[in-house]
Amino acid sequence: MATTGYRVLAPQDLGKDLLARQFALDVLNGLQESPKRIPSRWFYDDEGSRIFQEICDLPEYYLTRAETEILERYAPAMMRRASGDALDVVDLGAGDGRKTGIVLQAALAHARDVQYVPIDISEGAMAGLVAQMGTQFPQLHISGIVGDYADALHYFSRGKTRPTLALFLGSNIGNFDYPAARLFLRDMWEGLNHGDLLLVGFDRKKDISRLLAAYADPKGVTARFDLNVLARINRELGGEFDLKRFDYHCVYNPVLGAIEAYLVSRERQSVRVAALGRAFEFEAWEPIHLEYSFKYNPTDVHHLARATGYEVVSEFTDSHEHFIDSLWRVRKHG
Ligand SMILES: C[S@@+](CC[C@H](N)C(=O)[O-])C[C@H]1O[C@@H](n2cnc3c(N)ncnc32)[C@H](O)[C@@H]1O
Repeated sequence: MATTGYRVLAPQDLGKDLLARQFALDVLNGLQESPKRIPSRWFYDDEGSRIFQEICDLPEYYLTRAETEILERYAPAMMRRASGDALDVVDLGAGDGRKTGIVLQAALAHARDVQYVPIDISEGAMAGLVAQMGTQFPQLHISGIVGDYADALHYFSRGKTRPTLALFLGSNIGNFDYPAARLFLRDMWEGLNHGDLLLVGFDRKKDISRLLAAYADPKGVTARFDLNVLARINRELGGEFDLKRFDYHCVYNPVLGAIEAYLVSRERQSVRVAALGRAFEFEAWEPIHLEYSFKYNPTDVHHLARATGYEVVSEFTDSHEHFIDSLWRVRKHG
């Protein structure tokens, strides 16, 4: 009988409060920095996760279509690289898991005893995902974790013995700058065993107008997605942000190789956030930095794998060569 469920990571039994406190602290610290910033992991409350699904369906947002094409074509070949009859599929930043379903289908055809371990900071996304995967794959064991990647990984990897395929899809790696990506991948390496596999999705460097179109759609869905962070502060922390007084703006920085996304205050204003017991001052046209989305060349991907203790097993791209899914193996000895 398959088991299905998830747990909210609760160090010191703080439970959901832990995430609420981390959010409040990040807002408090981030809005006092110069430039102001709010980390992108807070995009994804229930509303943010829902708007992200709309983004995935936009004609300009080629990333989801490209990665879907890769997985539909190559997931069985990827699975042949996994050994044995048992497999844990760990899905970091799983979201709605619409692409992971393709991997799980191939995993179940390959191994008899498959456990799915989605990890996501959004409890709304996790609840929907666990219910949906449980219906789609009744034979699958599902053991989700709601929490930040790093906390969830440490929790998952304690005493781990089963072979693992970790997924980091959808260009999630792009939210880290290069040094942070190296640290993160090395942290994952620590939690995995020799021979485990990691599949990482990288958005490729490409024509800048195509990149920009994917992050600034004409319908304004991405703008709504970013502005939702302010709405979330209003909802959860008693903020008084007037969303009409902020514009969404994104640029591609060719020196960094990254899309940068901002909200810009249209005027001088002071915004109170009740739960933080203070107001934040904005100059006219002052930005809040919300997101980086770093882009990669194939050589960048190889360097990153080698620098963090992995061997590149195979590399898969879509028919337009917009995206790369790179399959790595953990090397801890010989
Ligand atoms: C861009 S979506 C990608 C979803 C899916 N993997 C895909 O490829 O379509 C990013 C997902 O990662 C989650 N996420 C973002 N930052 C996170 C963090 N620091 N820890 C855990 N989950 C995070 C979000 O809640 C969201 O569901």
